[in-house]
Amino acid sequence: MHRGWKPLSRRQLLQGAAAFSLLTPGLIVPEAEAENLEKSFAWVVKHRGMVRAYTTDPVPEEKIQRLLRYAVRAPSAGNLQPWEFIVVKNPEVRTQLTKAAMNQNAVATAPVTIVTCADIQRMGSEYGTRGSFFSLVDASFATLLILLGAVEQDLGACFVGSYNSEEVATVLGLPPHVRPVGLVTIGYPAEQPQKPKTKKIPLKKLVHVDKWGET
Ligand SMILES: Cc1cc2nc3c(=O)[nH]c(=O)nc-3n(C[C@H](O)[C@H](O)[C@H](O)COP(=O)(O)O)c2cc1C
Repeated sequence: MHRGWKPLSRRQLLQGAAAFSLLTPGLIVPEAEAENLEKSFAWVVKHRGMVRAYTTDPVPEEKIQRLLRYAVRAPSAGNLQPWEFIVVKNPEVRTQLTKAAMNQNAVATAPVTIVTCADIQRMGSEYGTRGSFFSLVDASFATLLILLGAVEQDLGACFVGSYNSEEVATVLGLPPHVRPVGLVTIGYPAEQPQKPKTKKIPLKKLVHVDKWGET
């Protein structure tokens, strides 16, 4: 190696490759990876917060697809992957979902809602009664990846869990073994993430060492 030359870091290599790929799309690194070089995991986690109002701008399909690809990277008991996703954009279906979710603003204004669902049967075939619990855990992990992915892609998102399950199932035509988990409303933010009404409980009140109550 020449004197004065240092090996390039992975970040520098990616940046160089990203710049090159902007000139030659599709080569070296996908464009989206280039866009997201600045956002660390810590940044994404820190900036995640529920956004409940959106502009009317449509969410590009590639962003939705990216969120779904993130979702299926979630851990899954026995890797049975009980999750299913209904991507809702149709204005009529959105209106029906809004009603099923007590007219919440997030559902009403989001150009896209991904309804994350759990297939209880797929999990139950392997894990019996425990399967129902596992399928909800797995679908929740997948849902969190969508929420984090939205931050990474400069989108706003909200997890809406207060809805009438039967109504949502009817609107979406879900079979009986598929349960809705969350309505994940997504769009370009028309507001900053809202500050929760309550403060985060300090870690020292939540963490126990070796046994309950020991700090
Ligand atoms: C199980 C569950 C159900 C929720 N349901 C709703 C809901 O129906 N509507 C809503 O606006 N937010 C809902 N939230 C979001 C919470 O209100 C939010 O996560 C909490 O206030 C903390 O704020 P943060 O996520 O911005 O940190 C729900 C969150 C969870 C985990």
